[in-house]
Amino acid sequence: YEQPNSLLNAIRGRIDYKDNKIKLGGIHDWIQNINKAEILYITACGTSWHAALIGSYIFEEILNIPVKVEYASELRYREIPINSKSAVIAISQSGETADTLSAIKKAKDKNALTMGIVNVVGSSISRETDCGIYMHAGPEIGVASTKAFTIQVVILALLSSFISQKMKIEKSRSNLESIKKVPGLINEILNLSDEIFKIAKEFINVNNFLYLGRGYQFPVALEGALKLKEISYIHAEGYPAAEMKHGPIALIDDKMPVVVIVTKNGFDKIISNIQEVKARGGKVISITTIDSQNLREISDHYVYLSNCSEIDNSITPLLTSIPLQLLAYHIAVLK
Ligand code: BG6
Repeated sequence: YEQPNSLLNAIRGRIDYKDNKIKLGGIHDWIQNINKAEILYITACGTSWHAALIGSYIFEEILNIPVKVEYASELRYREIPINSKSAVIAISQSGETADTLSAIKKAKDKNALTMGIVNVVGSSISRETDCGIYMHAGPEIGVASTKAFTIQVVILALLSSFISQKMKIEKSRSNLESIKKVPGLINEILNLSDEIFKIAKEFINVNNFLYLGRGYQFPVALEGALKLKEISYIHAEGYPAAEMKHGPIALIDDKMPVVVIVTKNGFDKIISNIQEVKARGGKVISITTIDSQNLREISDHYVYLSNCSEIDNSITPLLTSIPLQLLAYHIAVLK
């Protein structure tokens, strides 16, 4: 419930809406080096890795540069062609996760430019990196990070806009306009808590959950599944919706709730994925920014996030992740 305020704190002073300019003091002096990088890596663990994946989609869409997202635990041990022409961003709420710290040390040893997106001021990763952006999320008390996730995504969106402005790419305007609306919209979504509580009650005794999303909603599906696993101890998997047919579909029956995240991008495609789930008797919980009669009818549960349909595609994860956090929270408390 602190999310709207945390978000406001994270963006305060960083967007000048008069001329849509971004200010990121911690990387300002490094922007030439960042722009010179031929490849960008983003490395992290857990929830921070999911934010990294969304960040890579934003960077590739806005900046049109290749971005590789690596689990820090893999990057630190794998042979990987990082060199002085690479930039490596480490994302970490705590700034102390051992794998992420080792990954960034390896990147430094290979002469890459290193940047941190970290919440805890003065933490090891913030000290080890060449430059960085603090999240200003406030303390994350529980093990499962929630507000840290949304803030990591917003910082990555700001960073891509900042770089695009310096590179004179004019593609980021609509995502800045959308970011402005997000705190108010999150407040509205938090009002759906009672509705989500009722859905949660129906599923406290199931053993498995599947989460599906396409495009920007795929990492959201991964994150929704992780939150459920971490706090309710129910097995859950996140999948790209179309990939479901290559395996997980065999597991779907009336004991398998399937959470599907639906936005206007790929809407028709995801409706046909839902029909595939229904054909096998799966229970569909739709989380949607589009109010559609058809979707209502084929869903067993329908959570409509009103006023969100016009938000820029790259920014919708900030909204669609909230009902998934609430679902995991209510199931965990009820159990
Ligand atoms: C895990 C936590 O141990 O560390 C996750 O359970 C978290 O919730 C992950 O996302 C990474 O943490 P950090 O601090 O590096 O973002």
